[in-house]
Amino acid sequence: MLHIPYSSIMHTTGTTNSHQRQCQRPPSAAAAAPALACMAAQPVYNAAMSAVSSAARLAVRAAAAGSLGLNQGIRLADTQAREVVDDIFAHALKKQTGVSLKYMLDFGSSPIERQLVLSSQFLHKELPVRLAHRVAELENLPYGLSSKSSILKVRDWYVESFKELRTFPHIRDANDELKFTELLRHIYRRHANVVPVMAKGVAELKRELSERAVLTEMPEIHQFLDGFYLSRIGIRILIGQHIALHEPSKANHIGLICTKCSPWQVAQDAINDARSICMREYGAAPDVSIYGDPNFVFAYVPSHLHHMVFELVKNSLRAVQDRFEDADDEPPPIRLVVAEGGEDVTIKVSDEGGGIPRSGLARIWTYLYSTAKSRVQMEELQDDTDGPAVLAGYGYGLPVSRLYARYFGGDLQIISMEGYGTDAYLHLNRLGNVQEPLP
Ligand SMILES: Nc1ncnc2c1ncn2[C@@H]1O[C@H](COP(=O)(O)OP(=O)(O)O)[C@@H](O)[C@H]1O
Ligand SMILES: [Mg+2]
Repeated sequence: MLHIPYSSIMHTTGTTNSHQRQCQRPPSAAAAAPALACMAAQPVYNAAMSAVSSAARLAVRAAAAGSLGLNQGIRLADTQAREVVDDIFAHALKKQTGVSLKYMLDFGSSPIERQLVLSSQFLHKELPVRLAHRVAELENLPYGLSSKSSILKVRDWYVESFKELRTFPHIRDANDELKFTELLRHIYRRHANVVPVMAKGVAELKRELSERAVLTEMPEIHQFLDGFYLSRIGIRILIGQHIALHEPSKANHIGLICTKCSPWQVAQDAINDARSICMREYGAAPDVSIYGDPNFVFAYVPSHLHHMVFELVKNSLRAVQDRFEDADDEPPPIRLVVAEGGEDVTIKVSDEGGGIPRSGLARIWTYLYSTAKSRVQMEELQDDTDGPAVLAGYGYGLPVSRLYARYFGGDLQIISMEGYGTDAYLHLNRLGNVQEPLP
């Protein structure tokens, strides 16, 4: 197997021009954001910005809104040393480096010492860039979202991790690498509850604005959440993959990736999990039949696949159960088809749960949109839970599943026939050579 050193992809790391270098050292921490906003007017700067991610651009745009008094949060500069704030903004302007599933497979197939050192050197350089992009965004969200206590909490986790990575010395050998892996484990744990804590802040904003706007009318918040959660998936897979290479090797696994992942088997497990939750909540659960080749395998991350199928099946179970709860006949079974294509593995989940009205279709992709009767109160969201074990109610199922699919070059589509049922198409890229999408 071909081993590509991480350094061979480092050429894609963004280089900075002189103008950007000026941006990296704002005159003072407090002035950093407004200074960035002013520079946005300069054509050279605009050209430079087109080379960096949309995250940094959003941060710069939002910084302008902040300077207009729209953002009253506790600024980073109020709580962090000036050098730290400058360092964060400098990193927020650097380009993030994407990797592909195939690359991770090639790289981790025989993790010898030298490769682990190279991998940690790459992460040591890359993670601060990705974290800084998110801090810049979290610092400058519109509608006062940045000042919500849970958003500040998440921002501070990102800042802490950024600082720990930046103060970690250069990694030279296996010994340094072991220490660095310990730091990665620590960071991984710190960020475990980012999703529910963020959701709390967004739910608070939604409640405040509910009379005036819905989330679909706040595209910038939606766009931010999509980018933020996508980035989180990427960061966690990079860290998770590195940590997993230290663990005793599992058969047919390269880190988190299973080289012989059976979509049939993963779907069966996800169906069992979803049906038992449905049983618990309704006292009954419609049948789910699987069609496809049980022996077919391909390279994928089983935990991601499980998450996506679990969410789709939960939605179908709920729709069918709600529709046929009082019917005399047995509810029609949900059908799950696994199709094996050259480019894609597609999983279709079809139900006869009555479908989704066309006017509601755009909303299903927004965070916190749910028609569940047992609408979960965000106050109930404990910071120490690792996600909801309920059938529905958070509204995160579809948008987050689509991000998981897109992360490895796939996609998720929902087609509905109102009055009949819904088909969900989950496309998973088979080749694995698509580079991570980076917000
Ligand atoms: N198979 C389906 N049949 C009918 N409606 C669906 C289906 N899947 C999703 N929906 C609609 O989309 C909404 C959002 O789904 P989701 O993101 O999974 O959040 P949640 O399940 O927590 O409500 C659901 O509340 C429901 O109104
Ligand atoms: Mg759901």
